[in-house]
Amino acid sequence: MKKIIPTTIIVLICFLIIFILASGFFYQNTDYEFSEDFFKISVSFFGDASSSRAFSFFTRDESYKDICNIQLDPAEENEQTPNFRDRDNIIIKAESHNTYMLYPSQLRHYGVADSLEKGTKYFYRVGSQQKRAWSAWGYFVTDDQDSDFMFFHITDSQSKEEAEFEAYRESLSKAYQTAGIPEFIITTGDLVETGLNTQEWDLFFDKTQDFMFKTTFAPANGNHELLSTPIYYHFHLDTPKNQIRYSFEYGNALFIILESNTLDYKNQSAWMQEVFAASDKEFKIVAFHKAPFSSGNHAAQKDVTAIRNQVVPFLYEHGVDLVLNGHDHIYCRTYPLINDEVGSWDSRTQTKVGDASKITYKNPNGVIYSINRSIGSKFYTKSKTMNDHLIEFGDQERVLKPVFSKVIIKDNTLNYISYEYDRGDTDEVRIIDWFEIEK
Ligand SMILES: [Fe+2]
Repeated sequence: MKKIIPTTIIVLICFLIIFILASGFFYQNTDYEFSEDFFKISVSFFGDASSSRAFSFFTRDESYKDICNIQLDPAEENEQTPNFRDRDNIIIKAESHNTYMLYPSQLRHYGVADSLEKGTKYFYRVGSQQKRAWSAWGYFVTDDQDSDFMFFHITDSQSKEEAEFEAYRESLSKAYQTAGIPEFIITTGDLVETGLNTQEWDLFFDKTQDFMFKTTFAPANGNHELLSTPIYYHFHLDTPKNQIRYSFEYGNALFIILESNTLDYKNQSAWMQEVFAASDKEFKIVAFHKAPFSSGNHAAQKDVTAIRNQVVPFLYEHGVDLVLNGHDHIYCRTYPLINDEVGSWDSRTQTKVGDASKITYKNPNGVIYSINRSIGSKFYTKSKTMNDHLIEFGDQERVLKPVFSKVIIKDNTLNYISYEYDRGDTDEVRIIDWFEIEK
């Protein structure tokens, strides 16, 4: 009898241990179930960059309608991998809707996370708590509101088939390797060749999702998107549905993304007026697709002339420092311009930094416009146009090398560094243009 009791207790304890281990195992497996049902996942700005982010993603399975979520897990210091089990996790219910016109077999889900902590890294995943199915995870970092940050300007990935999207992927990968992980990426339009082609968007995300998982995306609308709906559906933005225009403040800078698929800028100017009036940021940066100053083919066209007449004077008047453009698929960058004339500066110095040469404009009076060629694989030729005297740096011929730019804002300086990637040939990267605005 004496022997039986301890043996029973030992057996019971063993069962108990096995049960605890097993239940933990099963809990973990169900809670962490990875599913490929969720795709085209994006993080974008929506209001205050220090306390909010917006999410958009798709499923093909209709049964996910109205039961999707976004889960966020604030990272501990130096934490590299989330566990999504901490008590401070945030679960947000996503809205769902069909996008019959554009993507008949896909269901779109979106939501906004606000009340986030500033200067904090958040892991996230999207999925359905009810179905215990979750996507792979990504992360973003909220703005810490200091004046030291870095972002990328890229443009015109404009791909239509797998090999072109693969080229875009290689260039984006090279940009991360060369310039580090950006706090956000501004892409100035023509993300795909045909905005209404679902397969192109599927490929766009499929090829670069792992890079998008590491940052926040701020897209402008391009003419190849055709309508505003493709961008509107793939990135949840605080914008009217018929026009992609929104703004955000980040660090000591104000960013305005404009819609340039229009000939009439009256309502955007009224809206911009309010945005400028509400911001006291040191740097003002505006991004849109169609470049008003260019040595490319589009400069003399009616839609571009409309920008020069209606938008350019307005930007100078409101103290804009830098305008990010695309559309012409060449590398082209202006002097600081007062409307359509070369402006002025206290000094303009050139310094050697390694193999590169950096031009510093001290207290420029004027707006610098930059066209970033293309991060894809479609390149155009420089043409003889009326803007040549306004260009400080530009292509002299058709260059078949993708470009990406890194922008660093620190205290009273803005550095814009453009890299050319000799993809598929030497695979080397070199700085082709580096300018600094010092205030
Ligand atoms: Fe383009």
